Amino acid sequence: MLKAFVHTVSPEITRCELTHKKRVAIDPQIAVEQHKRYCETLQELGAEIITLSDNLSYPDSVFVEDSAVILDEVAVICRPGIAARRGEEQAIATELARHRSIEVIQAPATLEGGDVLQMGNTLFVGKTSRTNEAGINAFKEIADVFDYNLVSVEVEDCLHLKTACTALSGRSLLVNPAWVDIAALSEFNVITVDETEPWAANVLCIGQTVCVAEEFPETAAMLRDLDFKVRTIDISELSKAEAGLTCLSLLFNA
Ligand code: GLY
Repeated sequence: MLKAFVHTVSPEITRCELTHKKRVAIDPQIAVEQHKRYCETLQELGAEIITLSDNLSYPDSVFVEDSAVILDEVAVICRPGIAARRGEEQAIATELARHRSIEVIQAPATLEGGDVLQMGNTLFVGKTSRTNEAGINAFKEIADVFDYNLVSVEVEDCLHLKTACTALSGRSLLVNPAWVDIAALSEFNVITVDETEPWAANVLCIGQTVCVAEEFPETAAMLRDLDFKVRTIDISELSKAEAGLTCLSLLFNA
């Protein structure tokens, strides 16, 4: 059974952290409506939604992906790379303990779920302003126990590894090569976003369906031409808070 943790949009989302985007006004009500539609789409694609609301005082708490990495064998509770987000992970840890054994990333290590991309037995981990060397090493120690192959990847000019690169169905990756070192990804089939849509590389793949943010029609059309089954979701208001589709859920098999 596929399950997805999501978190209700905080009324404080207008005060979200921004690293590579300029602040523009966010309408919290539109963000809430888009989030509702996002959750409905996940349900239509077969996921059972578990909605958390513990972290409403944290502006970025809707971006639940960053709080944990869920592997089949274990859930790793992250330590955010930015002080304003530290503490969000407590509520996720409590919920995840019902489904997995738990490992916790400890200070001074930092790791955010947006920096971890799983492709089968390979775990790509982005080196970013949010995930430090100690975080990568701590995560590797946990992953080694279960024989994962951890590959660290240089990332620049964007927030997370998964801002620059996400999984399509099969052995394909969707990538913005300006932001990630594609040499590290060479065992996979690398497909490049439309050059007019640098933020389009964050797609959410559920089964054979690739969800693409509605803001990126050229990349969606290109993927359709390549015979991917594409569905678009409007997260334009949430993306003003530097969101991507993957940030808004934590998917796992129960
Ligand atoms: N606004 C998302 C983040 O900075 O984590």
